[in-house]
Amino acid sequence: MTNTSEDAYRHIITESVAFLYPAALRAAVLLEVAEHLADEPRDVAELAKLTGANGPYLRRLLRFLASHGTFLEDEDGRFHLTPQADLLRADAPRSMRAGVLLVTEDGWWQSAAGLTEAVRSGEPAFERRFGQPIFAYLAEHPEHGPLFNAGMAAYSAGDIGYIIDGYDFPNDGVMVDVGGGRGGLLLAALRARPGLCGILLDHEKVLAGNLLPELGADDRWTLHPGDFFSSVPAGDFYTVKNVLHDWDDDQCVQILENCRRAMNPGARVLVVEAVIPPGNDPHFGKTLDIMMLTLLPGQERTQLEFERIFERAGFRITQVIPTPGNLSLIEAVPA
Ligand SMILES: C[S@@+](CC[C@H](N)C(=O)[O-])C[C@H]1O[C@@H](n2cnc3c(N)ncnc32)[C@H](O)[C@@H]1O
Repeated sequence: MTNTSEDAYRHIITESVAFLYPAALRAAVLLEVAEHLADEPRDVAELAKLTGANGPYLRRLLRFLASHGTFLEDEDGRFHLTPQADLLRADAPRSMRAGVLLVTEDGWWQSAAGLTEAVRSGEPAFERRFGQPIFAYLAEHPEHGPLFNAGMAAYSAGDIGYIIDGYDFPNDGVMVDVGGGRGGLLLAALRARPGLCGILLDHEKVLAGNLLPELGADDRWTLHPGDFFSSVPAGDFYTVKNVLHDWDDDQCVQILENCRRAMNPGARVLVVEAVIPPGNDPHFGKTLDIMMLTLLPGQERTQLEFERIFERAGFRITQVIPTPGNLSLIEAVPA
C-alpha cells in the first residue's frame, strides 16, 4: 500500500465517523459539563455527581472530546476547560452553546440524513421530512422558535465585530435590517454610530425576543413585524445578513426589489453572506451550503451568482469586502 492510499484510507475512515463529534458536543452542552468546570478542574466522579451522568460513560465522552481539544484531562484525571470547551458555557464571551444546540437538533440531523434524497430531487430534505418549509414549520411550532433564534444569533455574534470594523457604516439616517432576527447586527451598528437610527424587520414572534433594549436609547430604533416578500420599510441603508442564502434566486430578487422600491434617494444595501471562492480549498461557506441544501431552497453563492441576482433586482455591486470571518460584505446601489 502506498502512503497516498494509506492517507486516503485513513481520511475516509476518520471522516465517515465525524458525525460523532457534534453528537458529543451536544451531549456535553446538555450535561452542562463546561458550566461545572468554569471555576476549577474536576475529576469524573465529581462531574458525574454534578451532571447526574454515569461516571464511566462520562469519562469516555470527555476523553473523546479532549482528543479534539475540547476539554483537557490532566495527569491526575481532572478535566479542565480549554478555550474551545469554554465556548460551550452559556455566559462565555462569544458563547456557542445555543449554536451547537441548534445545529445538532433533531430536525437538523434528520435533514442531513435526507441529503441523498435532496440531491436526487432538488428539494430541501427538511420539507420532504417535515411536510412544510422550515420557516413555516417554526411559525407553527413556537416551541422551536427560541432555539432557532438564539442559535442563529450565536452563529451571527462572532461575525458582527468583523462587519462593524470592516465597513464604513453611515452615522445618520435610518438603517433597515431586513430579516434581522434578534437584531444583534443593528444593535452593534447603533452602538458604533450614535447618529444612526434603525428599523428591525422580521416575523413578529422573532422580534419578541429582540436585543435592542440593550442599547438603552429606545428613541433610536423601531420594530417592524412583517414579510420581506411583501414589502420593506423606507430607509437610507439596508443590511441583509444571512438572509439571501435561505432563498432561491427568484426569491432573492424579490427581496432585493422590495428594498430598492422602498429606498430613499442615495440609499445603499449591504448584503452579508459567505462568498464561495473558486477552487478546491476548504471554505466554511461550502459546508454551510450543504446545510442550506438540506434545510432550505437557498444556497451559498459565488460572486458571479450574487452579481446576477443584484443585476436582476436593479442593483449594481459597488464593492465586495472580505472579513477575517466566514462572511463577506457586498455593497450595492440602484443601477
Ligand atoms: C438565517 S436567519 C438570519 C437572521 C439575522 N439576519 C442574522 O444574521 O443573525 C433568517 C431570518 O429571516 C427571517 N425571515 C424568514 N422569512 C422571513 C420573511 N418572509 N419576512 C421577514 N423575515 C423573515 C427569519 O425569521 C430569520 O430571523
